[in-house]
Amino acid sequence: MMTRGKLLHMNAGNGECSYASCSTLQRKVIQEAKPVLEDVIKKMFNNIIGDFPRSCFNMADLGCSSGPNTLFTVSNIIKIVQVLCHEKSCKMPEFQAYLNDLPDNDFNTIFKSIPSFHRDLKEAEAEANCFISGVPGSFYERLFPSKSLHLVHSSYSLHWLSQAPEKIENNNNIYITRTSPPQVFEAYMKQFDKDFSRFLQVRSEEIVTGGHMVLTFLGRSIPDPYGSHSAHLDLLSKSFIDLIHEVQYFTSANFLLSSSNSLRV
Ligand SMILES: C[S@@+](CC[C@H](N)C(=O)[O-])C[C@H]1O[C@@H](n2cnc3c(N)ncnc32)[C@H](O)[C@@H]1O
Repeated sequence: MMTRGKLLHMNAGNGECSYASCSTLQRKVIQEAKPVLEDVIKKMFNNIIGDFPRSCFNMADLGCSSGPNTLFTVSNIIKIVQVLCHEKSCKMPEFQAYLNDLPDNDFNTIFKSIPSFHRDLKEAEAEANCFISGVPGSFYERLFPSKSLHLVHSSYSLHWLSQAPEKIENNNNIYITRTSPPQVFEAYMKQFDKDFSRFLQVRSEEIVTGGHMVLTFLGRSIPDPYGSHSAHLDLLSKSFIDLIHEVQYFTSANFLLSSSNSLRV
């Protein structure tokens, strides 16, 4: 079975239908989580993790995609550290930012936006030595050397499972909805449990002692796992089913046509 990593990626480029042009919701999520990021960095500053904040601050954004949100988080982190350095009259560290996503992500567009990212930081008087690298691969696998990261950030990505649960009968739905049998909810929960445990295991090997993670992702409430937020998925399921019926109709019509043709020959 093909894993999701080989099948799906966000729409590339900067066009009308690209992820870059359609990710304002995700940007809002990053903005809302910013106070948590500030708290975490403040804590790291006060506890002096390894050489931080004196030497290089190594951070990773997992599931970075491509678009204005990709470097927005990095720039937020630099600005937060800058304020803390100013308050404590200490020198700004250097930054190493690793941007990770699946290999089919549009890393080219990210790399092309790096000069304007540096320009914007300079204009905001937050100029810093920030070295940016792309890291293609799944965040469910090891991506970085042991004990090399101070901070791991991931927004709106960790609800992507490594694969859909296998062998489930889901009443023509593509995800968990009100008409899904209870086994479907359990199968997805089991898959999430497996994936998230793996994620924590590999990250625990990569993060320095005392390092932190800020993870923001979608969840479902236990009392009402079906919720109302999956209405768009119901519509998508229905559209897929219609499409399948159309393809089936088209295939059988084509078959009839070609059999009658061959009869005539
Ligand atoms: C909705 S986008 C969020 C992008 C960005 N963090 C933001 O807030 O705009 C989710 C991203 O997670 C990536 N992703 C999903 N599963 C992944 C995995 N196993 N490893 C790395 N990236 C993954 C997708 O390719 C996609 O670019």
